[in-house]
Amino acid sequence: MHGDNGKPSGIAWHIGRLKLASRVMPAPLCDISDRPFRELARSMGADLVCTQMLSAEGIVRDDKRTWSILDTAGEASPVSVQLLGANPDTLARAAQMLEARGASIIDLNMGCPARKITGNRCGSALMLHPGLVAAIVKTVKRAIAIPLTVKMRAGWDDSAQTGMEIAQICESEGVDAVTIHARTRQQAYKGRADWGLISGIKAALRIPVIGNGDIMSPPDAVRMIRQTGCDAIMIGRGLMGNPWLMRACNDAVNRFIEGRIADESQAPGDEQVLLDDGTCRVPVRVPFYMKEVTLGERFNLVLWHTRMMVAAKGERRGVLEMRKHSQHYIKGIRGCKLLREKLMKLETLEEIGALFDEYRRWLAGGAGTMQDVRIVTN
Ligand SMILES: Cc1cc2nc3c(=O)[nH]c(=O)nc-3n(C[C@H](O)[C@H](O)[C@H](O)COP(=O)(O)O)c2cc1C
Repeated sequence: MHGDNGKPSGIAWHIGRLKLASRVMPAPLCDISDRPFRELARSMGADLVCTQMLSAEGIVRDDKRTWSILDTAGEASPVSVQLLGANPDTLARAAQMLEARGASIIDLNMGCPARKITGNRCGSALMLHPGLVAAIVKTVKRAIAIPLTVKMRAGWDDSAQTGMEIAQICESEGVDAVTIHARTRQQAYKGRADWGLISGIKAALRIPVIGNGDIMSPPDAVRMIRQTGCDAIMIGRGLMGNPWLMRACNDAVNRFIEGRIADESQAPGDEQVLLDDGTCRVPVRVPFYMKEVTLGERFNLVLWHTRMMVAAKGERRGVLEMRKHSQHYIKGIRGCKLLREKLMKLETLEEIGALFDEYRRWLAGGAGTMQDVRIVTN
């Protein structure tokens, strides 16, 4: 799967027997990566998408709330379904039930840092229990025919950096690919992800390794693949309010793999622009997409996303849940604080459309034509 220089030899790759057409995938994000978010990621070039974590206990006990999170009925394949748990038999039973419901991959969560999860030896607490991990992956692997993957952290804390050991156990017990979020549980989401660990695990394993942590731009995406030799990358927080990042990273990674760019310096990155607010000129770094995506495109995407949320969850819940996305979408545009305040009070799709129209009229009146809209970071 890899050429002589350590970089992937083609864009297509496999997890088990599943052939994939993109080397960039969206990360599972609790309360975020629902069906509309996955559709959005697909529209931006993602191939494999993932549900948020589901409790294996909840699935097996037929808990209504857990099943309600599984919003994959009728969804295009492939979809990876992520399971959380620490009991091998429960996980295996839940995996079988999800396979029967059409899951393309079962992914086991060994990364969640939340105390209420780790208290039950689930999520990142498994990084402290190699014997239990071996029993879990062996039992789950035997129970299903679809590929099994594991998403893990670098370890529990500085003194228990078990990432390499756990990754090797996963491989020897038949796991088809591992995703490494190269932070310890102690780090939660702070500090830098240790991409050196991803390189080490990639060098030690034969199964595909997916690199995760701190990919916020196309240059980061290319650098992750180039430096670590990983087979694919996974993007989490960077996609919130910025699904264009998926398309841009996909393009950059494909161009790198095909040899059309040599390294990350040739991928579109953030740009330094001069903001002129009439009284002074300030140099500001803006993400590449803010220059490339027009305000109209951005609002249209927010409305499309909202329509999908409303179709999936009903108007009230869809619009309410959309608030957490909308505040990311409008980051950095002129007057975004006021726009955010207004958005947070709206309850219908129509009101959101009307607010955007009003905002555009305000901009056109106060700041010249739409083309003249300058990027302002608040
Ligand atoms: C709000 C939020 C929810 C998350 N939910 C999950 C989850 O359900 N399952 C999981 O494996 N990781 C989850 N993660 C971790 C991400 O998948 C990812 O590993 C982490 O954010 C690092 O990648 P990033 O630097 O690209 O964000 C979550 C992270 C965030 C910020």
